[in-house]
Amino acid sequence: MCGLVGATANRDIIPFLVDGLRSLEYRGYDSAGVATLNGQGLKKERSVGKVEELAKQLASTGMSGTMGIGHTRWATHGRPEENNAHPHVSTELVAVVHNGIIENYETLRRDLQNLGYDFDSQTDTEVIAHRIHQHLQSEDSLLTAIQKTLPELEGSFAIAAISNNEPGRIIAARRGSPLVVGIGTDENFIASDVSALLSETQDFIYLEEGDIADISSHAVTVYNQYGRIAERPIQKSTMTKSAVEKGDYPHFMLKEIYEQSTALRQTLSPYLDNDTLQESRLGDDASHILDGIEQVHICACGTSYHAGVVGSYLLEKLGKRPCRAEHASEFRYRSPVVTPNTLFVVLSQSGETADTLAALRYAKEAGYAATLSICNVASSSLVRETDLTFITQAGPEIGVASTKAFTTQLMAMNILAILLARRSGIDSAEELSLVQSLKQASFAIESALELNSEIKDFAKQLVDVNHCLFLGRGNMYPIAMEGALKLKEISYIHAEAYPGGELKHGPLALIDDDMPIVAVAPNNDLLPKMKANLQEVEARGGKLLIFADKKSDFQPSPNSRILTMPSVDDFLAPILYTVPLQLLSYHVAVFRGTNVDQPRNLAKSVTVE
Ligand code: F6R
Repeated sequence: MCGLVGATANRDIIPFLVDGLRSLEYRGYDSAGVATLNGQGLKKERSVGKVEELAKQLASTGMSGTMGIGHTRWATHGRPEENNAHPHVSTELVAVVHNGIIENYETLRRDLQNLGYDFDSQTDTEVIAHRIHQHLQSEDSLLTAIQKTLPELEGSFAIAAISNNEPGRIIAARRGSPLVVGIGTDENFIASDVSALLSETQDFIYLEEGDIADISSHAVTVYNQYGRIAERPIQKSTMTKSAVEKGDYPHFMLKEIYEQSTALRQTLSPYLDNDTLQESRLGDDASHILDGIEQVHICACGTSYHAGVVGSYLLEKLGKRPCRAEHASEFRYRSPVVTPNTLFVVLSQSGETADTLAALRYAKEAGYAATLSICNVASSSLVRETDLTFITQAGPEIGVASTKAFTTQLMAMNILAILLARRSGIDSAEELSLVQSLKQASFAIESALELNSEIKDFAKQLVDVNHCLFLGRGNMYPIAMEGALKLKEISYIHAEAYPGGELKHGPLALIDDDMPIVAVAPNNDLLPKMKANLQEVEARGGKLLIFADKKSDFQPSPNSRILTMPSVDDFLAPILYTVPLQLLSYHVAVFRGTNVDQPRNLAKSVTVE
């Protein structure tokens, strides 16, 4: 999704703006731009395509300035063209960058056109620039003009604006999209994401819903949604610049796949005290809340939704609580019935996904007993708005395709299942054995990573196909769903997942030698059923790629290839079998030459509905 940066300093900040925008490239975008004030009025440069294009353009114009704003745009209203790229300028006086969507922009646009404003773009953002300009005719400062503009806007946004009348000052505001202020020495910054500011500072103010920040090189004042000055703490980030760099890896996705062993260890360890799970980590009230929970309802999007589905199997099997997982984007539009004593769980890497946040807000109104977020970003909106929080410790995830965030979410789900199982009669020896299993997760991942070159060889089978089916059963069905999502999003091969038992109810008709099947088939209770399903495929000439352990005892045949996985407890299998599917998609995408880290049309952190 869109990203924004801004700086006000006593040095040329164009190089910072360009670097900041480069750090935000991972979010997905199609055009970029900057605006600055340099004593000769408001200047802007914008270009379609990569930040590199913008950098070249800036180098050729020699643009410089001590303050400015920049943006990477992911098109929503209007095609990716230069006139739709941000910043948007009104009458050479005001420039604005904006993340999010202004839902009532058409009405505002008509009003402004009636007042004589000309529009250069098809965007919703341009109305903000003109509206601020309009208010500046009666207001004496950019701050008050923006304070008048914001209540007129419907939708979600993070904005940053500058005015030619007030050089050195950036006004930024958030409603629904994240914004962080970076504190420097005699210079201050704004960005939609800390990763854009790590080269400049480790000190941050995380703006809250409805906040407006008035930023100059020597001071930052934050106003809350009621217009009163708000004390917001300066927090030191422990994130380093190297955590958001590729290092020696060719792609962020590969780096992040390899980081999973550490990420799982780091996610589990804060919950352990002498091998006993500490439920108080979820929040002060955790024990009391969990004691009263009779049902669980999970909402999330995309990959996080798949972790939720795995969680629903676990919470029923181990936690003995009725549990269902559903897409956050569907939940609030279907008049859900809220059962008593139900915990509402949201999962998200970013904690800013618009549909997941909206589902949470709906659930809070709807009367769920309590809410829990499982999230990778401690400062995110989702975390701030839930009663209990489980912060996964995956570290920054830059590749658009989620990898380590997913496996750490699975770890969190395992922990939650054990905490509920405590209340449904598992004894301490059983609990200890489950915890011991969780401690093995990192090692299991390491042994799966050792299969990388074999998996790369497997990947050659998929390079030229147009379609692919993924099969799994039980808790491996959502892993098959995740495998299919990974393949389609980064290699652009059409892929679907089915529970093995569903094949003969329709998809079997698709099987021919051009429709390979990828199966995840560890040795578990459902293995005989899965084998029967795979035989049905083989009997019809389908090609099979099977991920299974030694005990599954698959025999190779001319139409099937088997990759032997380490043997693990059923409880850990979803985490373990995710890894080869991630690597499979990765290698297929690399062979096909697609943009692995920034797949076409996709964005990281989907902050619009
Ligand atoms: C797929 C992927 C997306 C996200 C989804 C939710 O690889 O990354 O499907 O999982 O957009 O995002 P979060 O987890 O940030 O809520």
